[in-house]
Amino acid sequence: MKARAIAHPNIALVKYWGKRSDALNLPAVGSISITLDTLATDTRVHFDPGLEGDEFVLNGVSHAEQGRRVSRFLDLFRARAGVECRARIRSSNNFPTGAGLASSAAGFAALARAVDAALNLNMDRETLSIMARRGSGSAGRSLFGGFAEQRRGQFDDRDDDAGCHSLRAAEDWPLEVVVAITETAQKKTGSTQGMSRSADSSPYFGAWINAQPDDLELARTAIATQDFDRLAEVAEFSCLKMHGLAMGSRPPLLYWNVATVDCIHAVRAMRDDGWKVFFTVDAGPQVKVICAPGWCSRVAERLAGIAGVTDTRCCGLGRGAYVVV
Ligand code: DP6
Repeated sequence: MKARAIAHPNIALVKYWGKRSDALNLPAVGSISITLDTLATDTRVHFDPGLEGDEFVLNGVSHAEQGRRVSRFLDLFRARAGVECRARIRSSNNFPTGAGLASSAAGFAALARAVDAALNLNMDRETLSIMARRGSGSAGRSLFGGFAEQRRGQFDDRDDDAGCHSLRAAEDWPLEVVVAITETAQKKTGSTQGMSRSADSSPYFGAWINAQPDDLELARTAIATQDFDRLAEVAEFSCLKMHGLAMGSRPPLLYWNVATVDCIHAVRAMRDDGWKVFFTVDAGPQVKVICAPGWCSRVAERLAGIAGVTDTRCCGLGRGAYVVV
């Protein structure tokens, strides 16, 4: 009834923003991501018959609100396993939590993997990705290493077709990523709230949904053919469109700070100089710079010199969530 699992954050190249069902946490659009190495969530789960309620401790601190979200997530597994037993969960991140670094993706992927092992459910990776997605829409992708796709699915009242699959292994195309940290405080408006606001109020929401299949197809082809320039183009396009959608919400969502914008300009200047790089930004002010193999350290050095960049982290592509014995 005990297990430990590790998962890495993933960074979307074709973004997920918007839901078509809150109850099943079904995405309004499919998405494509890369799973990182280096940054990690390490989660231990212990189902203990002596517990009266679930206990959730993140980075040494108990969280009531996140604890309730985790408890509802555990209920999905308890229902499958036919058990009532409550669990003690200890989780830690080696990177800032809730600051646009996909901590919820790594968190729910690690939790799904650990709970599956603790309850001896033996679900396959794709089924686990469906479970992880119920916790956080981007979490299913962290079940897979390298390049992964979250499928939109067709139904609004069931989610068995809204799982993830691998597009390409990490070792096939070992891209590198520099994360430029420009702020470590938790963001004011989380993704869940932000995307619901965009769906309710952004005049661009319909256009965003309609164009996603084309972006996904472009990215799939670029990944299959290892075409860095094409991947760069569609990823930056998807990122800026998502932020345009967010900025066009009411009230507007502006996740960037001055350093975010300076990093974006710096990446464009690097590319003008022939460097193999592109940027992406999620629901926070950090900038993730994806580099062709071998470019990471000089890109990190350049970004570290930008005012407001407090830290840079270099990552490679990593593996999907795994159990540690
Ligand atoms: C901008 O997966 O955090 O990172 O499903 O509400 O938990 P919920 O949202 P979440 O949203 C991620 C949004 C994004 C883009 C992406 O990862 O695709």
